[in-house]
Amino acid sequence: LQRLPVESQYILVTGGLGFIGSHTTLELLKANYNVIVIDNLSNAFEDVLNRINSLAIEFHEKNGTTMPSLCLHAHDYRDTSTLRTLLEDYRLPSRWGVPKSRIAGVIHFAAYKAVEESIRNPLKYYSNNVSGMVDFATTLGDFGIKTFIFSSSATIYGTLATSGLPLKEELCVHKEEAYTDHTGVSRTLQPGCTGITNPYGRTKWICETILADLAASDPEWTIVALRYFNPVGCDSSGLLGEDPRQAPTNLLPVVVKVMTGQYEELQMFGTDWNTEDGTAVRDFIHVTDLARGHIVALSSANDGKLKENFRTFNLGTGCGHSVLEVVNAMEAVSSKPIPRRAAERREGDVGACVAVVDRSQQELEWKTEKSLKDACQDICNFLDVSGLSS
Ligand code: WQD
Repeated sequence: LQRLPVESQYILVTGGLGFIGSHTTLELLKANYNVIVIDNLSNAFEDVLNRINSLAIEFHEKNGTTMPSLCLHAHDYRDTSTLRTLLEDYRLPSRWGVPKSRIAGVIHFAAYKAVEESIRNPLKYYSNNVSGMVDFATTLGDFGIKTFIFSSSATIYGTLATSGLPLKEELCVHKEEAYTDHTGVSRTLQPGCTGITNPYGRTKWICETILADLAASDPEWTIVALRYFNPVGCDSSGLLGEDPRQAPTNLLPVVVKVMTGQYEELQMFGTDWNTEDGTAVRDFIHVTDLARGHIVALSSANDGKLKENFRTFNLGTGCGHSVLEVVNAMEAVSSKPIPRRAAERREGDVGACVAVVDRSQQELEWKTEKSLKDACQDICNFLDVSGLSS
């Protein structure tokens, strides 16, 4: 089934109206997949669905191609009975008692992602991000849906990020790894001890470990964990800007709040990091590049191109930019001053976190195409389109 033509395939996307989920849903539709979105709207607005739909229709009309189907099921992915009812609608006649589904793959975004909140309320994070995923994967397996793209995070690299070590996927696989550190000393890394600094990151690491064990237990599963670095920007139309229901904690949405006068100034958490300008360095990847990384991961998984049936990939640019560089880039693009001040470091932060993207480039034949400046420009488009730019 997984080799049915793409336009006959349905992809189930949890959290599909969120910031990354909405951009990935759009790119799936552009790639001719039919998309079923499950989203409980806890951190997204339902009108995002209409915007995705309009953008995809516009794309297909311009290309003279057929618009695939898009539907929303506005409930929690953890509502197993509602999920089972939904999956029954896509069930195919089983062969030799093996369940089959028209759903060719799942992309699982639904999770809580605020580092500081996870430190204050870890059980909320373990319940939704870990227990929820275990029950979800169990139900998918019952319906023979065993291509699973997991939204992971660079946070699992923890303090390795500032150890000067290359953040290569191999360093975090579930076995002992020998490596040479940046001083040339050879060391051994025990499984899982990447110095993760917060419960949110640990939920992602635990989920990867669970999924690796699931893949090892059943070769029918093909599972990809995509480790996001710092997603920024928005679709060039400006219609899918990052607009969380809850107060943002990530840098660019906070900068947007300052630009629109909702916040007085940006607090730069830590100006004494061991970096060129003292502010922290991150690998800021345009969310459209990130979304497209999911499409290639899905097709590689379904086309049997992955080296193992559990595979991790870093989705980043491979280049670092500091907080101050980001602020300066946004000021240059928007021609607006962005008030900011130095503040204490934020609990759970690391000084630098930049991807090594060799594996993504070689195995997925994927690399980023957009720049930090593109991201800032697209955010300004979003502000203009939304009437938020004062
Ligand atoms: C980036 C830098 C902050 C806000 C987090 C998650 C990670 C991923 C992306 C999900 C840091 C600084 C921020 C502000 C600031 N999420 N900053 N003032 O912490 O690198 O990663 O989001 O997968 O898992 O940990 O991203 O955007 O919060 O912060 O100075 O008001 O900007 O200290 O150095 P982070 P971020």
